[in-house]
Amino acid sequence: MTSIDTPRAGAAEAGAPPAVRLDRISKTYGNSTAVDDLCLDIAPGEFFSLLGPSGCGKTTSLRMIGGFTDPSAGTVLLSGEDVTALPPDKRNVNTVFQSYALFDHLSVADNVAFGLKRKGVARAEIRTRVAAMLERVQLGGLGDRKPGTLSGGQRQRVALARALVNRPQVLLLDEPLAALDLKLRRRMQVELKQIQREVGITFVFVTHDQDEALTMSDRVAVMNEGRVEQCGTPEDVYEHPASRFVASFMGTSNLVPGTYRDGQVVLDCGPALPVGPRDGVADGAAVSLSVRPEKIWLSDFEPGMALVRGVVRETVYSGPTTTYLIELAPDVTVSVLEQNTDRSRMEDRWCGGESVEIGWRPEHCLVLE
Ligand SMILES: Nc1ncnc2c1ncn2[C@@H]1O[C@H](COP(=O)(O)OP(=O)(O)OP(=O)(O)O)[C@@H](O)[C@H]1O
Ligand SMILES: [Mg+2]
Repeated sequence: MTSIDTPRAGAAEAGAPPAVRLDRISKTYGNSTAVDDLCLDIAPGEFFSLLGPSGCGKTTSLRMIGGFTDPSAGTVLLSGEDVTALPPDKRNVNTVFQSYALFDHLSVADNVAFGLKRKGVARAEIRTRVAAMLERVQLGGLGDRKPGTLSGGQRQRVALARALVNRPQVLLLDEPLAALDLKLRRRMQVELKQIQREVGITFVFVTHDQDEALTMSDRVAVMNEGRVEQCGTPEDVYEHPASRFVASFMGTSNLVPGTYRDGQVVLDCGPALPVGPRDGVADGAAVSLSVRPEKIWLSDFEPGMALVRGVVRETVYSGPTTTYLIELAPDVTVSVLEQNTDRSRMEDRWCGGESVEIGWRPEHCLVLE
């Protein structure tokens, strides 16, 4: 696997210091390394996601920003100020945990007011700010209710309001939508993004769900084994994954083994596919050709496309799309996603066993060493 050397993933806006800077942060527990020499800049007002599989160090990174975990090495800066030695309550950040951690004996409004009361904010101001925040998260009429009487999505919004009302510089969110069912989760993703845009607070959002990260984020850091493998816009990391890990973690990616030679990838199963010259890939290098399912064509090929034959092994209809699993060689199967827009095509959809030709544009495939 290629590990991408990102000296500093992300860049702050010219002038203003980054809202969050992790400078060579590491965290070790005994012999094991949870976070490994992490460098990250998060710009003010950015919706930034830490994405990666379970155990890759997302929560540990977030906890070091919040001050709940001390780094073994490195520096944490908030708006240019070194806060590495400061406890959580001395940092202008708030955290929303997956479990919400609401006070069940307090009303919704008192839950939201909690931080302001502790800070000694005047009563009248507390009342105004709490009411405004409850409106913003669409809980206007529910201030007197107890959290136990609310739905999961409503409780999630109380937790969010309780954090936002303190007007933190940075809001840390650790899988805040994980407990919600899929439909509510999709709705909350859109709402959360809208709220973030309105309040303009920097969000650092932890998730292991790539769709969620792609939908919500301005930028995503894809983590693996305590390191950032790639950091960029959702389009960057999806369309131009920098490593095999990122390509396969970000949705379905077809990885076909072959050898790079003179602008072509010669597949282990025979055919030579044109991909054009690739900088930095040596002739004779063992590579994987990566091409997204939606970028593969099944008919009406254009000149210059890379064409290869295969056998349809499976056809999966799922409403708006159909996925075909096409075997190019033993143990080499690619999936092809087609929109179900063409009525006539749907009627003669393949049922498996047919030999077919598929094709893609050379610029749509990646050559990963
Ligand atoms: N207090 C601790 N003591 C020992 N090891 C820990 C501790 N906290 C975390 N780790 C280890 O550090 C690694 C990263 O953990 P972390 O909780 O950051 O992962 P994560 O990416 O948030 O995973 P998940 O998606 O499952 O929440 C894991 O291997 C974990 O077991
Ligand atoms: Mg975690």
